[in-house]
Amino acid sequence: MTATERVFSGVQPTGNLHLGNYLGAIVNFVKLQNVYNCIYCVVDLHAITVWQDPAELTRSIREVTAAFIASGIDPKKHIVFNQSQVAEHAELAWVFNCVARLGWLNRMTQFKEKAGKDRENASVGLYAYPSLMAADILVYRATHVPVGEDQKQHLELSRDIAQKFNNDFADSIKAHNLDPVFFPPPEPLITGPATRVMSLRDGTKKMSKSDPSDYSRINLNDDADAIAQKVRKAKTDPEPLPGEEKGLEHRPEADNLVGIYAALSGRTKADLLGEFGGGQFSNFKNSLVDLAVEKLGPIGMEMKKLAADPAYVDSVLIDGSNRARVIAAETMSSVKDIVGFIRKR
Ligand code: AMP
Ligand code: TRP
Repeated sequence: MTATERVFSGVQPTGNLHLGNYLGAIVNFVKLQNVYNCIYCVVDLHAITVWQDPAELTRSIREVTAAFIASGIDPKKHIVFNQSQVAEHAELAWVFNCVARLGWLNRMTQFKEKAGKDRENASVGLYAYPSLMAADILVYRATHVPVGEDQKQHLELSRDIAQKFNNDFADSIKAHNLDPVFFPPPEPLITGPATRVMSLRDGTKKMSKSDPSDYSRINLNDDADAIAQKVRKAKTDPEPLPGEEKGLEHRPEADNLVGIYAALSGRTKADLLGEFGGGQFSNFKNSLVDLAVEKLGPIGMEMKKLAADPAYVDSVLIDGSNRARVIAAETMSSVKDIVGFIRKR
């Protein structure tokens, strides 16, 4: 690791955290702590791009924070905070709104999905969401961003914004004796066997917080009974499990369950199919229930404990935001100089 390498990622405090968030993102957040300085953010400003009940939002910010801590993120060694406590995110996002082009944002598939048919009625914030995401990352000049597969396009946009800013302001950056690559293009880290966990009801749909059916996902705070029920009810097809990975092609539900098992156990899909191939789904599912309960049970329990101590959780967020703000303010001061704003020195 060089001194300038830094990890940043964010999770929205909306609805229940599920196995997709855990395997696609949080597990990787935990691993990266050993290699990088990490900043993990509960992105409450992103959450309000669609309506959030205020009391529910407060609860949800604490819940995501609790999930980070319960999963093994160390808020003393690294930084854990909620976005709205560091005003520089919103400030830099405005500058980036003036760097990003309408044509770029028009291509964002997440906006199209979330806005749905009634696009005229979507918030302006939902449309501008990717420039705020770029600001989150670049206000810390973070170099590595662990996310699930669905965030790839947003990361590419962040890279485009960084590059255009560096180009547009190249002369000014030089005049202020700053690094010509003022914003390093952030690299996505999309790793592990479960970068896209699918719904338990439909193997062609992403597991998501907003799916109306709770049976479509395993929530991080589900108890053992709920986990068992959901896995046993998970959609499958009538064929037995194949003996090799190739046999999972065109069998999205089977592929998804094997992928989840692989990610939770740290084993490869091939290895699992060697053990379970040819056998009944029910055997495999029983074993998956045991594994999921073993891995998620302690996290759910720790989250419950933390839910009973909101003062502690809030103190983590305040401490984290105080440390984040120092880094963000420094970047923002340079950005003001680069753009040509006048500021107090
Ligand atoms: P969000 O809940 O949209 O804030 O997502 C938080 C993190 O979880 C992001 O890095 C997403 O890419 C990741 N994520 C969300 N849903 C899934 C899924 N079904 N499979 C894998 N990763 C996911
Ligand atoms: N857009 C991400 C999601 O919906 C959350 C997010 C906001 C994020 N800002 C970020 C992720 C910065 C990584 C880096 O999942």
